[in-house]
Amino acid sequence: MNPSSSPWSEEETRQRNALCKIGELCYSRNYIAAADGNLSVRLADGDILVTPTGAMKGFLQPHQIAKVDMTGASVDGGPKASSEIGIHLVCYEQRADVRAIVHAHPPHAVAMTIADIDMQLPIIPEIIVTLGGIPTAPIATPGTHELADSIRGIVSCSDTVIMKNHGSVTMGPHLMDAYKKLDMVEHTARILWLAHCAPIVVLKLGGSVLTGEDALATAVHEVYRHVRQGRRVLAVVSAMSGATDALLQRGRALDGEDAPHGLAPL
Ligand code: 13P
Repeated sequence: MNPSSSPWSEEETRQRNALCKIGELCYSRNYIAAADGNLSVRLADGDILVTPTGAMKGFLQPHQIAKVDMTGASVDGGPKASSEIGIHLVCYEQRADVRAIVHAHPPHAVAMTIADIDMQLPIIPEIIVTLGGIPTAPIATPGTHELADSIRGIVSCSDTVIMKNHGSVTMGPHLMDAYKKLDMVEHTARILWLAHCAPIVVLKLGGSVLTGEDALATAVHEVYRHVRQGRRVLAVVSAMSGATDALLQRGRALDGEDAPHGLAPL
């Protein structure tokens, strides 16, 4: 017990305050809303401080923080721990170096997973260098063992993960570091979102354009030129029966993969 007769050690007092502060920051930045999200810290003795279930994490007081051991059982008979304690425990189990975790619902990052846009693609140099990428875990029900298991493999080698249709988990040696990674994840998602919302290029590929093999190849190259520059392309094909199929087929042959989403018949 410290000299001011607080029930907590200096470390625990500091970390309880930090959990409240970072919760406030997450809320003010719209990374969580209402009672979303949860945050935790691993203390030097191995116990875990974690935000309480159902509370608004932007408005917490230090005495409202729960304290559990590595099985999730309460250590002090205090507030009930987050319903997502499982995802925190799995991260601490997998990573001896991790001391703090933030689970949030950053809107753009979650929207990217709903739209099936892969944030792991090496597009933004800053993210490749700092985080190595932003992987997505398969969809799983919140608050279940299945959810914790869905991130186990990923968090063993990544400090960030987005749980599909749900939210982010970011971790590090201290809370500000875990928060910083959340900031990076959502900022990246916002940039990618803007790129994906760039105006659609409408290409009108009529009969005269698509007569003959060379003309077809030229049309396909024109579509893919836009796609490779990150534009969404709407190819409007008319006047020539079978032209759309030919275009899609030729596109696959050129790229060695499925035609991109934007390339669809009208
Ligand atoms: P808790 O309030 O139980 O931590 O749950 C919030 C949440 O975001 C669940 O995913």
